[in-house]
Amino acid sequence: MSSMRIALAAGDGIGPEIMEATLAVFKAAGVMNHLAFEPVEMGKSVFQQGNTRGMTDEAIRAVESCGLLFKGPMETPKGGGGKSINVTARKMWNAFANLRHFRTLPGVETVYSRAGMSLNFFIVRENIEDTYGGVEHRLSNDMIQCKRLISAPGCDLVCRFAFQTARKAGIRRVHCGHKANIMKMTDGLFLERFKAAAKDFPEIEAADVIVDALCMNLAMKPQQYEMVVLPNLQGDIVSDLAAGLVGGLGFAPSANIGRHISIFEAVHGTAPDIAGKGVANPTALLLSGVMMLRHVGLLRSAALIENALLAALEQGVRTGDFGAGRPNATPPLGTMEFARAIAERLGSAPAGVPAVAVPETEKPHLEHGARPARPEVIRTFTNVISHVVGCDIYLDSPLSPVGVADEMNRVCQDTPFKLTLISNRGTQVWPTGSVYTECVDYYRVRFELREGVPPGSFGQSRCVALMDRIAEKFTVCSYELLRIFDGVKGYSLAQGQ
Ligand code: NAI
Repeated sequence: MSSMRIALAAGDGIGPEIMEATLAVFKAAGVMNHLAFEPVEMGKSVFQQGNTRGMTDEAIRAVESCGLLFKGPMETPKGGGGKSINVTARKMWNAFANLRHFRTLPGVETVYSRAGMSLNFFIVRENIEDTYGGVEHRLSNDMIQCKRLISAPGCDLVCRFAFQTARKAGIRRVHCGHKANIMKMTDGLFLERFKAAAKDFPEIEAADVIVDALCMNLAMKPQQYEMVVLPNLQGDIVSDLAAGLVGGLGFAPSANIGRHISIFEAVHGTAPDIAGKGVANPTALLLSGVMMLRHVGLLRSAALIENALLAALEQGVRTGDFGAGRPNATPPLGTMEFARAIAERLGSAPAGVPAVAVPETEKPHLEHGARPARPEVIRTFTNVISHVVGCDIYLDSPLSPVGVADEMNRVCQDTPFKLTLISNRGTQVWPTGSVYTECVDYYRVRFELREGVPPGSFGQSRCVALMDRIAEKFTVCSYELLRIFDGVKGYSLAQGQ
């Protein structure tokens, strides 16, 4: 029988120990009859060879041809140009959705388990966009910017993935977490595309919640959520909060799903403080592996392993980082002993929590698109008509708002534009404003078409010419076109406008 290939990177620190333990459980469950793991070189040793991506070319080729990567945690070098390999891998291979499952596990004590509350929910985080593009610039002496990029196709992919996953898992309600009340355009788009995706899943209730309220609700009444989908940064923060509710990162599995390549890994790091001691808890990596088995259709193996883990935890089996003080707690086991205890329980089921139904048979199956010849441009909206109606020009200037306004009014005198607004840190400071608004050395000046000049009567070259004029006297940091798209403004108003 031919096996499905999976690229395997054990990782750094505790990575090799917890990977060995996980593979031992896989082997005992018969997973190796279906899957062939191909070790690849990634992480610290590759960084140390001067490779700033942290993965060899052979590793990249292997992951791309397998379509799946199972990885342990990897150390991100501090300074020296090396970027987080985890972020690089997710972005490079467009693993656009981060899926995490949070649930109360027997034997893992939390404030909720002590109160007799059982939690079971998923968080889906957008993995590519948002401030994680890392597009940052210093704009003036005192101002730094990070661009927050949110695209319609990016929102569509992750929102549709959330609903598809909910459908498969029998989840009845999906929430969108967002901050669209403040970031009306970026988070507004995320929410809008969530609502559009929901229409294709009528059996699932779609609701939304502002992210700060979500955090409070998760702390107070986490049972009300079954699945929450969020933009990248908010999803990152909320999913670690969720990990805390179910016992910490040691129990948080994670899948990074893409159309071509998916990556399965634990959420925690390399735990340098306990690396090499054989005491690390392999549960999160094992559960990530179980997610991977389900992803490739090995539902029987996944169910067997999950039931064995639940049975072991229920019987007080533990590593040193959890479970002490429970009435039935056994002495802490090392990483491999813990794995053996799980392997010994394969075929048994937990008594006090629902067991997972074990299908009779299984066959690995993975659908992933063919390797594209070149990076694809994914587009959602087509045939949109847009017109230039002005521009926002960003200046590095120590002048007062009135000083900036005088100069700008002079510059635009004989152009099709008039100065309509000056803002500082997003707050309007001209033509009206409060004397209490403190300004920093970075202004936005907004020019809009004068009365009588029809939108679309010229392209962006007039805006560039205006910027050129301003640049004779000021440092222009950047500019953004003001456009209307199908008659709707494609830009926000300033606070106080
Ligand atoms: P960490 O998660 O490695 O450790 C935090 C604490 O949790 C430590 O006390 C550690 O002993 C404990 N811990 C973590 N996993 C454990 C496990 N399986 N069993 C028992 N105890 C465990 O976070 P830290 O210290 O901030 O990061 C260390 C390194 O890991 C850094 O280089 C960081 O860049 C990297 N990292 C890698 C990640 C990945 O590959 N996905 C994710 C997070 C961090």
